[in-house]
Amino acid sequence: MKKILIVFGTRPEAIKMAPLINEFKLHKDKYEVKICVTGQHRELLDQVLDFFEIVPDYDLKLMKSKQDLSQLTAAVIEGMKVIFDAFHADFLFVHGDTTTSTFAALAGYYAGVKICHVEAGLRTYNLDFPFPEEGNRQLTSRLAYLHFTPTVVASSNLLKEGIEPKYISLTGNTIIDALLFASKKIKKNKYPQIEALKSTINSEKPLILVTCHRRENFGQNFENICSALKHIAETNDVQLIYPVHLNPSIHDVAYQVIGDVKNITLIEPLDYPTFVWLMKTVNFIITDSGGIQEEGAALGKSIILMRDCTERPELVASGLVKLVGSNPKRIIDEATTLLKNQNSLQSDAIQSSPYGKGDSAKQILTVLNEHML
Ligand code: UD1
Ligand code: UDP
Repeated sequence: MKKILIVFGTRPEAIKMAPLINEFKLHKDKYEVKICVTGQHRELLDQVLDFFEIVPDYDLKLMKSKQDLSQLTAAVIEGMKVIFDAFHADFLFVHGDTTTSTFAALAGYYAGVKICHVEAGLRTYNLDFPFPEEGNRQLTSRLAYLHFTPTVVASSNLLKEGIEPKYISLTGNTIIDALLFASKKIKKNKYPQIEALKSTINSEKPLILVTCHRRENFGQNFENICSALKHIAETNDVQLIYPVHLNPSIHDVAYQVIGDVKNITLIEPLDYPTFVWLMKTVNFIITDSGGIQEEGAALGKSIILMRDCTERPELVASGLVKLVGSNPKRIIDEATTLLKNQNSLQSDAIQSSPYGKGDSAKQILTVLNEHML
């Protein structure tokens, strides 16, 4: 029986690893699986653990207010060493490009564990955008044994970097698995959180979803973004609904600068099913998030992307994503254009997606099986 350790620490990692955890549960005869959360996020992570009914075996509880990247990095490496000493894993699964995933991978490498990287191969090849995620994912690719990529472009990035084809597998993105799972659940069950959210929404007006959290957008860029949101809200008969990320560099500024603006509704982060419901409900999305681009596009939503460059070129090519950076005029112009064409933006069905059909977790396990033979 092979020993598997799955580690994650932030909200998006948890959402994208949950389908894999569920898939492993179907194969208890072959794998002994343990789940470790670093607690890089706390409240945001716990919301996801609750929804997907994941009970971690280990929780490093690493989140501290005002912790910088070096302190968090050191804590992840030290914390993970203790886990590897207690559980001698054969394979370690990490996801994407966070501090948790890259430095858990490094600790795993030191412990002689084979690293399996989910959502591998995303690149901008610009170490400043997104920072520090571009550096993180390049480092993880140097350490990984198996690379599970979401798209052909991601696979070809890894091939160009000299990784042997037999270790690269195109499996799609588990975000589609998670989105389908949540969509089914919200159709079947009544969620009081969704009913509560409905009461804050004016269904007569076009609805725009906003999120923002990237480090590149802190400071002046975030002030510019807020001024663009204010302009859109004050010059149109719309409602902007903005679940504000808990990072104080965003949270405190957002409430200070646009907390009282007419037509802007700031709310606390939503649990995953409520957020999926909201994505389905809105006319379009303004964001700098990675995961929300993938989900929003799968739901047929247009997305104004507040970044200077992207590791998801397929979404820009599809026309659904418009890359505008933090330039207020460009944000306002794109929003104005979308508001003019709002009748064409009512879709909420799950569309064909460049990230797969929702069977990525299953495909990852099939590949893992082949590598164990
Ligand atoms: C992290 C990831 C980023 C990912 C994002 C998803 C890194 C370097 N960055 O960025 O790639 O896109 O998560 O959201 O790994 N906080 C809370 N409660 C929470 C979560 C955060 O209070 O549940 C506050 C804390 O003060 C924490 C701060 O936010 O110190 C920043 O969290 P951190 O994980 O360092 O960075 P994110 O900006 O969330
Ligand atoms: N999300 C959520 N509640 C919110 C905002 C986002 O559940 O209030 C989900 C969203 O559906 C997506 C993920 O969180 O799956 C994206 O997380 P985030 O934008 O923080 O990180 P990124 O994807 O940019 O790394």
